[in-house]
Amino acid sequence: MKKTILPRDNFQGELTIPGDKSISHRGVMFGAISEGITELDGFLTGADCISTIGCFRAMGIDIEQKDSHVVIHGKGLHGLSAPASSLDVGNSGTTTRLISGILSGQSFSSNLVGDDSLQSRPMKRIMEPLSLMGADITSDFGNGCVPLTIKPAANGLKAISYTSPVSSAQVKSCILLAGLYADGITSVTEPTLSRNHTELMLKGFGANITSDGCTATVVPNPKLVGQKIMVPGDISSAAYFIALGLLAKHGDIYIKNVNTNPTRAGILKVAELMGGNIAYENKRLSSSEEVCDLHITSSELKGITIEGDLIPTLIDEIPMIAVMAACVKGTTVIKDAAELKVKESDRIATVVENLTAMGVDITATEDGMIIKGCENRLGSAPLYGTNIKTYLDHRIAMAFAIAGCVAEGETTLDHPECVDISYPTFYETLDRLL
Ligand code: S3P
Repeated sequence: MKKTILPRDNFQGELTIPGDKSISHRGVMFGAISEGITELDGFLTGADCISTIGCFRAMGIDIEQKDSHVVIHGKGLHGLSAPASSLDVGNSGTTTRLISGILSGQSFSSNLVGDDSLQSRPMKRIMEPLSLMGADITSDFGNGCVPLTIKPAANGLKAISYTSPVSSAQVKSCILLAGLYADGITSVTEPTLSRNHTELMLKGFGANITSDGCTATVVPNPKLVGQKIMVPGDISSAAYFIALGLLAKHGDIYIKNVNTNPTRAGILKVAELMGGNIAYENKRLSSSEEVCDLHITSSELKGITIEGDLIPTLIDEIPMIAVMAACVKGTTVIKDAAELKVKESDRIATVVENLTAMGVDITATEDGMIIKGCENRLGSAPLYGTNIKTYLDHRIAMAFAIAGCVAEGETTLDHPECVDISYPTFYETLDRLL
């Protein structure tokens, strides 16, 4: 089934964004290996986080889920039991990489299986450091991808100081979680700082975990205790409505309760550098995360260069940023973002293909893209409606739904239901804006 998006001038209203995906995954995982009850409010009911719940239920953890309220009856660091069959991680790279760190420290064997997209995503980036720690982890087809088999480490896990070649919170978190089961202090250094939810949240559960610049360090064998966590709205989901509020002719969107952790908030920096009108209201801390309400209004934007340390703080938002860049004055250059090639789709290729189809002058590069903006958005169409190929990538579907809202003519999306991975109510929310 296809979804049709028609353009409009007015996009106004107030929204609450579903819970942060990264924090929802971690809440379930850390709750499962803590003692006592962990309660999550604002949990994201997207398919990825439901996969995480399924995996821990299969390892004997009682998890009650009613919409966005989740109660996890944790059994402590050594309380997981052997699953009866393979653990299905679905489409979720975060589940796969983080759970592999936990599974490497268990005294039972496990097997991880996932969908077609996941089966082509690189897992060597976690297999190598876990193997250095003495873990027994293999790729069933020998291609460095899921399915993965993890057996008990013959001599237990050794602590390591690992320098990661990529800035990836999934790699960092995997090693830190394995470090909970290691024989000494484990540290991970990454080229530039990636999202730090693991460091913030594990500390709240009682782990001795510290950060110094791009290095995170964990002491093994902590007593983790269940917590009550308020999951803030996901800035990666807010990004679509931030962009829409800025690009629409008459945009005025108020987004409540957005996680603005600086390791995630690169989209806001980019919007400001482009000249966007964003007001930050009710800044506060919620379960160790920075949160605020955002008021976005139509803006005259200009192209910029996006590179370096900024990239990990907005990696999931690049499809949306590329669409924004196509609608503004001047050229936008995105560099240092080769990681885009190994997301749910090759996002350099999928963004370039779809923006080209919408009439944009865009060039793929080895580590990003160069997007020529339209000179006069109000006078000539920045984008022309067309058939968008989502490649079943939720972030491509949502970024191009927003593109369709400001394009000339009709835009259609194939496999629009793929948004269920991270934002099941996306289209309803879009339709509610007046
Ligand atoms: C995530 C980290 C990022 C991000 C993903 C969620 C996490 O991946 O793209 O959507 O929750 O740790 P990488 O760590 O591979 O950059």
